[in-house]
This record gives sequence, structure tokens and C-alpha cells, in this order.
Amino acid sequence: MSLGAAFVTMFQAAAKTLSTTAAVSRGILLSIRHYCKKTPTTLRVSEAVAGAELGANVKVQGWVRSVRPQRANLFLHVNDGSSLQSLQIVASSELNDPLLTFGSAVEVTGILKKSPSQKQPVELEADHIHVVGECNTVDFPFKIKNRHGLEYIRQFPHLRCRTNAFSSLLRIRSEATTAIHSYFKENDFVQIHTPVITSNDCEGAGELFQIEPSRPENEEDENFFSVPAFLTVSGQLHLEVMSGAFSRVYTFGPTFRAENSQSRRHLAEFYMVEAEVSFTQSLEDLTKVMEDMFRSATEHVLAYCAEDVDLFHKHVTPGHKDTVDSMLRKRFPVITYSEAIDILNRSSEKFVFPTHWGCDLQTEHEKYLVKHCGNIPVFVTDYPYDLKPFYARDNEDHPQHTAAAVDLLVPGVGELCGGSLREERLDLLRARLKELGLEDTYSWYLDLRRFGSVPHGGFGLGFERYLQCILGVDNIKDVIPFPRFSHSCLL
Ligand code: 4AD
Ligand code: MG
Repeated sequence: MSLGAAFVTMFQAAAKTLSTTAAVSRGILLSIRHYCKKTPTTLRVSEAVAGAELGANVKVQGWVRSVRPQRANLFLHVNDGSSLQSLQIVASSELNDPLLTFGSAVEVTGILKKSPSQKQPVELEADHIHVVGECNTVDFPFKIKNRHGLEYIRQFPHLRCRTNAFSSLLRIRSEATTAIHSYFKENDFVQIHTPVITSNDCEGAGELFQIEPSRPENEEDENFFSVPAFLTVSGQLHLEVMSGAFSRVYTFGPTFRAENSQSRRHLAEFYMVEAEVSFTQSLEDLTKVMEDMFRSATEHVLAYCAEDVDLFHKHVTPGHKDTVDSMLRKRFPVITYSEAIDILNRSSEKFVFPTHWGCDLQTEHEKYLVKHCGNIPVFVTDYPYDLKPFYARDNEDHPQHTAAAVDLLVPGVGELCGGSLREERLDLLRARLKELGLEDTYSWYLDLRRFGSVPHGGFGLGFERYLQCILGVDNIKDVIPFPRFSHSCLL
């Protein structure tokens, strides 16, 4: 065979193989398509309710929120946490099963169809219902027809996410977290993971949880770290370190305070958003960030969690929508601490704690000031120097003597944010630390003022108090997945 003839034969053989392969692949494709037609697409309830895959064979997984057996048909509502809405399932009563109860976990397959009823746009015509996990409705603490109050469901921290109100809260909390990170990203802040374990008591209030290993490896070496260690009360000092290299930084993480947290606005473990800005000119540089962040996060939550927020504003805290609207409509007023004391002294209200210049503002005073300013958030600035921690910048305004500190007070809650300009002047900071006997403890902090110190400041926002404020929730324990407070049992 000539070389040319050999080449032609080889080419023909290859072509034959290729066409066989093509035919085989076409066959496989057809069977895949056929299989796909039979295999239902798994949808989230939110996708199904929005009408995705109308007319298609779909599978939905979730928990039964209502069961309505009728003579010919069975109606169910299934929710999977993807939205407040549940998907209506219609099935022949032959598919009914005694295990199919309120609270049980199910997997349903069938055809997604337009619903003939006005109540919902679509429904799933089920051809198969599988009870994945049964639920004993007698023992289950939530009952099908009841709208349980927040106080009641709080008794069941391991189960309350199964209720509409708490699942809405958790979706809002998740979206608000995203909104806060987005605000900082859009404004060029660098996120810093500040440590949970620290040796400092940033606030100097002694509300520390000390930590140590549960079983020291060696009895002589009881201290795991070479100094006493605590859970952080604030990431501020670590953020200040970073603000010496990045002009805008923030952190958002768990924070711990061993204070008597039986109140409706204190927790032993809460989440704090903290920001630190370098090259500040005045407190206004901070109040601007606080107000912008509040507005931007709130507008985001209202836009992305409209149904969930509505549930709160309609059923849990009726009337609160107007408060939120007016908070967003008006600019936040600014008053000094001295003006605040004048307002309180002139008021006819009978306060439990009497007011005078130099006193700490109590929740009752904060709430009064908010009402006085039109029930919108209000900044109070320039607190007595002696009320503020060592880091607050001295206004040097003797004889009154105030510090450049600012709190943001909000309706229903009182203090939402606390912040200040920081004392960036080495001599003044050293003198104050010396007075407090803390010069050695904070020698590293003094270094920050030795090497390229700049005017700077920052603030912290209590994330749970923020959620209380926008939702109108009275008790802080109702806005965190697993509340930790003194004398509470922990899961
Ligand atoms: O006012 P605080 O104590 O400020 C600081 O910790 C500063 N170092 C923050 C900073 O400047 N980076 O706390 C800030 C906010 C409070 O306004 C309040 O909203 C919240 O944290 N907060 C609590 N929230 C829930 N439970 C507690 N026990 C809280 N203590 C403070
Ligand atoms: Mg404070």
C-alpha cells in the first residue's frame, strides 16, 4: 500500500469511529434529557413562590406550617426559611399520612402550577410526599393556630427559629450584617479581625470575663498566657493600632461584658460594629459616619427584607413603621451634654435618678431626650471628662472640663453608639494613664502616639440595639439567636 492509500484508509477508519462516537453521545444526551425530565428540579420555597419553573416537575424540602385535610384533597403549607412565605401544596387525600403534621419535615415532588385561588400565585400539585422527620404536635411547644408572643417563644431558644416571627428576625439580622459590611466596603474601610482574647480592659469598667484553660496541663503553669487574659469588651484599641497604617478601619464581631445583664438592653455577649477614622478634624467626622451608616443599613434592610420587616411592624410592634420613617426622613440633631442636662433639669418629668452637671445619663434620661428632640436619633456630645475612659480626647475647656465624646441616642432604646476623638497627644495621654496607674500596662498604646500619631477617633454601635431600634423590639434577648445574660442557662 502506498503511503497515500494508507493515509486514506486511516482517515476513513477514524471518521467511522468518530461518527459511531457521535451517535453514542447523541444517545447518551437523549437519555440524560429523558432522565432530567423525570428528575425533578429542587427549588427553594422562595423560588417556587416566585413562579420559577412553572409547569415543571419540581421538588421542595421544608417544614410543614399548616395541614388542612379535605374530603378529596389535602392542603399543606411548607416553609424552608428562604422567605416568610410558605408554598401551598395540593395533593390527593390518598397521599395523606398520619405523620404529616404541623412541624414535620417533608420532601414534596410534583408539578408547579398557577393557583386558581387569589391567595397565592402558585401551588405545587404533589404526586409524592415523603415525611423526612416527624413532629409530635402534643409535645411541640408551638401550636398551629396560635400567634405566639416573643416572650413565650424565648423560652425555647432551640426551637424558636421555627416560628414566623423569629425566622423573619434572623433573616433581617443576616441582611443587616451584609448591609453594614457593604456600607464600609463602599466607603473604603478595611475590615480588621480584632482579637476575642485580649489583656486589655478598653473601657476600664472592670466588666471582664477572665479566661483560662479548664485543666491546666501543668499545675505550676496555671497561666496559659503570660498575663491575665479576658474576652474583649471592645476592639477599639486594636483598631487604633491599625488606624496608624490604614486611615479607615472597622471590625464587627462578638463582644463580652460581665455586667448585670438582666435589663432589656444588655447582654453578656453581643455584637459590636466599631470604626476608627484617622486625620479627623472634629466630632463631626464621626457623627457623619454614624448617621450615614445607620441610614444606609436601614434603607438596605427595608428594601431587601420588606416582608419580614412588615411582619414586625404589623404584628409584633404595631405603629413602629412611622417611627422608622421619621428617623430616615429627618437629619439627626446634635446637642451637647450641657444642653442635655439643661433640658432634663427644666423637665417636669419625675426621674428615678436626679440630674445635675457631671451625672451619668441613665436610660430614662436618654429616652426623655430622644422624645424631646422629636422621637428621632439624637447625638449628645462633649461629656464630662471624668465620665469617659482614658482614651477620650481632652477638650481642655476648664473649668467645666469635657471630653470630645459622643453618644447616639435612639427611640425606644437609648444609647445605640458610643464614640470619641482619641487623645492623640503623647504628653496628655501619658499624664492621664499615669494618674490611673496604667502607664506600664499601656506602654504599647503610648507608642502609637510616639510614632506618627495623628488626630483620630471612632465609635462602637451595639448591633442588637440597632435591630431593636429599627424593629421596635423591646427586649434585646429577642434579636439575637442565642442570648447570653447573667443567670441564664446556656445551650
Ligand atoms: O459605649 P460603649 O461601651 O463603647 C465602647 O466600647 C467603645 N470602645 C467603642 C468604640 O469607640 N470603638 O459600647 C458601644 C455600644 C453601646 O453604645 C451599646 O449600643 C453597645 O455597644 N453595648 C451593649 N449592647 C448590648 N449589651 C451590652 N452589655 C452592651 N454594652 C454596650
Ligand atoms: Mg457607652
